[in-house]
Amino acid sequence: MTLIIDGKQIASDIKQELAEKARILLAERGIRPGLGLLLIGDNPASQVYVRSKAKACEELGYHSVTITKSSEITEKEVLDIVQGVNHDPAIHGILVQLPLPKHISEQKVLLAIDPRKDVDGFHPMNTGRLVAGLPCFAPCTPAGIMEMILRSKIETKGKHAFVGGRSTIVGKPIANMLYQKAEGANAIVTIAHTAAHDLAFFTRQADILVAAVGVPQVITGDMVKDGVVVIDVGINRIADASAKSGSRLVGDVDYASVFLKARAITPVPGGVGPMTIAMLMHNTYRSASGEISW
Ligand code: GUN
Repeated sequence: MTLIIDGKQIASDIKQELAEKARILLAERGIRPGLGLLLIGDNPASQVYVRSKAKACEELGYHSVTITKSSEITEKEVLDIVQGVNHDPAIHGILVQLPLPKHISEQKVLLAIDPRKDVDGFHPMNTGRLVAGLPCFAPCTPAGIMEMILRSKIETKGKHAFVGGRSTIVGKPIANMLYQKAEGANAIVTIAHTAAHDLAFFTRQADILVAAVGVPQVITGDMVKDGVVVIDVGINRIADASAKSGSRLVGDVDYASVFLKARAITPVPGGVGPMTIAMLMHNTYRSASGEISW
């Protein structure tokens, strides 16, 4: 029997737990977790993401502020907004939705965010602390993967975890989290990327396989061993004449063939995707409650 890891259900459980914790934080200490969302330009996908994040805040009883600016804004103006939010005591977490317009340096803007409010976990201070195994904000998607592994009681200690992809948002942080000496981690990690000549040589050794390569259905059943645990981070839209819309979402894993060999697998959609916002809410709560010792 293959376990289908239900990210939608796990994310819903986490949000329910956080709503209760937020209620207690407000009742006992008068603190309402607050998230500042900065949306620049009119990228439709970014608008949807930011709205979903604000809606999650509302559902959990958090405070949120969405600052929306046109793509004409200057870099200096963006940096000034970030400074303002950094100093706003009602805001515990700041998220600048990416991508930014080309004339604004993402690196400069991310560096301007107070690392103690960096609930996206993109500031190099948090990257460094993550690698060092210090308390920090981990980026939300890899944090969500770790939470799914933990809650699904997947054995990780001493197991071989393969990570496909070396992005700053997923591949690098998840690889660094999986080998930490911690519960739900302590794995032996291989990270592969575009320079790998024979991807299957590595994937076939994996007890846990994290696919974050951004290529639709590239990991196929013949590339994995029996009993593998598969975490599919990919979200790719492909043409499908049989679908009403003419397309459908698939992961980086060929679900049908890998499912037959896997012990556990995350579906797309409904796997890793819903976990990202849940972990953003988790990070915002941690910032508000002051539970990270910097
Ligand atoms: N754009 C796409 N994903 C993300 C994310 O997780 N955080 C931010 N800030 N922007 C994004």
